[in-house]
Amino acid sequence: MSEKKIRTLRSQEWFDNPDNPDMTALYLERYLNYGLTSRELRSGKPIIGIAQTGSDLSPCNRHHIELAKRVRDGIAAAGGVALEFPVHPIQETGKRPTASLDRNLAYLGLVEVLYGYPLDGVVLTIGCDKTTPAMLMGAATVNIPAIALSVGPMLNGWHRGERTGSGTIVWKSRERLAAGEIDYEQFIDIVASSAPSVGYCNTMGTATTMNSLAEALGMELPGGAAIPAPYRERGQIAYETGFRIVEMVRENLRPSDIMTREAFENAIVVNSAIGGSTNAPIHLNAIARHLGVKLDNDDWQELGHEIPLLVNLQPAGEYLGEDYHHAGGVPAVVAELMKAGKLPHPDALTVNGKSIGENCRGAENLNHNVIRPFSEPLKEKAGFINLKGNLFDSAIMKTSVISPEFRDRYLSNPDDPDAFEGTAQVFDGPEDYHARVDDPALGIDEHTILIMRGTGPIGYPGAAEVVNMRPPADLIKKGVHALPCVGDGRQSGTSGSPSILNASPEAAAMGGLALVKSGDRIRIDLKKGTANILISDEELNKRRADLMAAGGYKYPAHQTPWQEIQRGMVDQLSEGMVLKPAVKYQRIAQT
Ligand code: FES
Ligand code: MG
Repeated sequence: MSEKKIRTLRSQEWFDNPDNPDMTALYLERYLNYGLTSRELRSGKPIIGIAQTGSDLSPCNRHHIELAKRVRDGIAAAGGVALEFPVHPIQETGKRPTASLDRNLAYLGLVEVLYGYPLDGVVLTIGCDKTTPAMLMGAATVNIPAIALSVGPMLNGWHRGERTGSGTIVWKSRERLAAGEIDYEQFIDIVASSAPSVGYCNTMGTATTMNSLAEALGMELPGGAAIPAPYRERGQIAYETGFRIVEMVRENLRPSDIMTREAFENAIVVNSAIGGSTNAPIHLNAIARHLGVKLDNDDWQELGHEIPLLVNLQPAGEYLGEDYHHAGGVPAVVAELMKAGKLPHPDALTVNGKSIGENCRGAENLNHNVIRPFSEPLKEKAGFINLKGNLFDSAIMKTSVISPEFRDRYLSNPDDPDAFEGTAQVFDGPEDYHARVDDPALGIDEHTILIMRGTGPIGYPGAAEVVNMRPPADLIKKGVHALPCVGDGRQSGTSGSPSILNASPEAAAMGGLALVKSGDRIRIDLKKGTANILISDEELNKRRADLMAAGGYKYPAHQTPWQEIQRGMVDQLSEGMVLKPAVKYQRIAQT
């Protein structure tokens, strides 16, 4: 690389600026105080941040503390200097009231660090659900060279010879606990068996989804998403990632060069093929907005709905993370899509300087049980549909997880095969649902549609994962295991329920869900993509006026300062749940 290019490193404004000797000396001296040398900081070596998301509070990402040593080795070997710094922890299972409250907080923190400190490039340590979008959103806003490193999934969980998958085993075993087949201690043991090592959820939940999509977007080295956390290949790719970011700085390869509209279109298609989480549209739409790339839920339906499910991982299928890696991971999935002509943009650029097509063409699918060939999918049409109507402007439904029981009950009318009607039973938040669902006085039967509202980004700060509701116990005993669920909250990526989710605008923003009453007739038409309360516009307008006059839809008080701040400026789930004032800051470190 030419001397001239090296002299234009961003970090040199801090560490080697003869026009401003006072500040240069001040910036420099304190970074020397633990043993760094002037030679390292002043001779044109790229200074590389390692955005460390691992900590004792974030066990899914904790192994990044180990991996960072290999990242540092790679950075040094390529002629860079590593400066590791902490990121606000986000632990999906540990944070109350919900970890998604922290995605935007970690994003803000990362933006401040990347903008305000002498960094020429950054390694984004990703893993647990929201850590991935938070890091990619931050890199998008600042737009210095950035590369993502997954921590990798945990090893497969086993219990009595059966694979136990993160999250999915909880949904399964809680029914056995409720039925008295296992006791509390056995329940805890079975669930803990799903977490046998360091790493993130080994199912195709939101973590494996988002790490796979980071690779599909081109932000990780090829194969980087699926390697299990404890495998030697994980340490090896950590080294390669560190090495590569230094080269990326020298090549001036930035997030905006990689995360283009074309890259997002590829990621949507890959999301269908892997059976990705319903949280993916929220996060990808958010990353796109921070880059100024136009992307919405209509794109998800248009590009993703027809794509079949190829990856046979729990909750949709049977296998887990180690199997996914041994079958070939994301490159094998992309290769299957390319052979079928279904990857829209094989020419999209990735962090290694090659296109995704160059990286994945010829990648072998090593286990056809785990990654199905395109011609023998696990399910047809595995993407989402985007429903609209007087209930909301946009809500996502994953039609591929509709069970035969559900289809028989709701979608088997020969005159109307893609639509169903039911009577609304409305719950205002999860506490209300838990308190009342089993009350016989509600009269919930198989013709009921369960509505969960007050759980969007404003109503339940961060949007709760509570829309998949079980029917009342009495109904389950009669053999009704699932009712249609509609809500303005989210659903765990490890759940396989066909709920209508992420409804926007939410009740707290006076969307149609705020106006629905228990007893209203609701009609859902999957073919037309509509979801409506069957009442007149006059009645709807009257209800809206009455509710406004009463002060609007009520939601619980703020518990922390950040809850109040975020509620005041957060956008809806269909818009990525971004902080509205943040999206106007784009490419802020680009000169
Ligand atoms: Fe962290 Fe699933 S809880 S990855
Ligand atoms: Mg989750």
